[in-house]
Amino acid sequence: MMTQIQSAVLQAEHLSKSFQIEQTGISVIKNVSLEVKAGEFVAIMGKSGSGKSTLLSLLAGLDYPDKGRVLLNQDDLTLMDEEQLALKRQRDMGFVFQSFHLIPTLTVTENVSFPLQIAGLVDDDRVDELLNAVDLNHRRDSLPHQLSGGEKQRTALARALVSKPSIVFADEPTGNLDEKNAQQVMDLLINLQQSFGSALVVVTHDQAVADRADRVITIVDGHTV
Ligand SMILES: Nc1ncnc2c1ncn2[C@@H]1O[C@H](COP(=O)(O)OP(=O)(O)O)[C@@H](O)[C@H]1O
Ligand SMILES: [Mg+2]
Repeated sequence: MMTQIQSAVLQAEHLSKSFQIEQTGISVIKNVSLEVKAGEFVAIMGKSGSGKSTLLSLLAGLDYPDKGRVLLNQDDLTLMDEEQLALKRQRDMGFVFQSFHLIPTLTVTENVSFPLQIAGLVDDDRVDELLNAVDLNHRRDSLPHQLSGGEKQRTALARALVSKPSIVFADEPTGNLDEKNAQQVMDLLINLQQSFGSALVVVTHDQAVADRADRVITIVDGHTV
């Protein structure tokens, strides 16, 4: 098991990405290589517009790089089609976004169990475990619009971890929360990640979040520095 703890869950090699705007190609990610080890917590920092969200979407197989490759548990995401990527995301990844991305017509419980459901699984004990872990058992039948920002993001945390992903990606997960809720959500995210052993990659502006990471990667103008 020791070798597994040390092994890389995610390896990005020489990633480049441009966006075509009218006739001009704008280079947004420039030859970025990085590695995330199993169970490791990595923070990605950088100014607005430096390419953090673009990098995260390449790492998570939400978009394809122009050059380079991304290995998740040894599988090259850049060789997969959309369907294979969707399956890979279901099985191996969890996501937390700044704007929560909950399904508005589903209750808290249904949102949390959604990743299991689309994978054809039922695990009510696991859903209960997560609802308790984020202290939302008493809100389990509420709809997202009935929740505070902090409660919405705690629902999203439970959903991100319900299928025991090997890695969780979070893009400014506390960006829409006040300081108190931001602190609570980050505490929970780190506790959950540690107790379930998932790796965690968090894009953040918040130095307090970065201070708690095992490692900080800084992006300046599409490069790692
Ligand atoms: N789909 C897109 N089409 C064109 N330009 C984009 C697209 N996505 C991002 N960009 C540009 O890439 C740069 C980096 O964006 P982003 O990765 O969102 O930065 P960050 O998350 O660090 O604020 C910005 O200049 C942005 O305008
Ligand atoms: Mg961004």
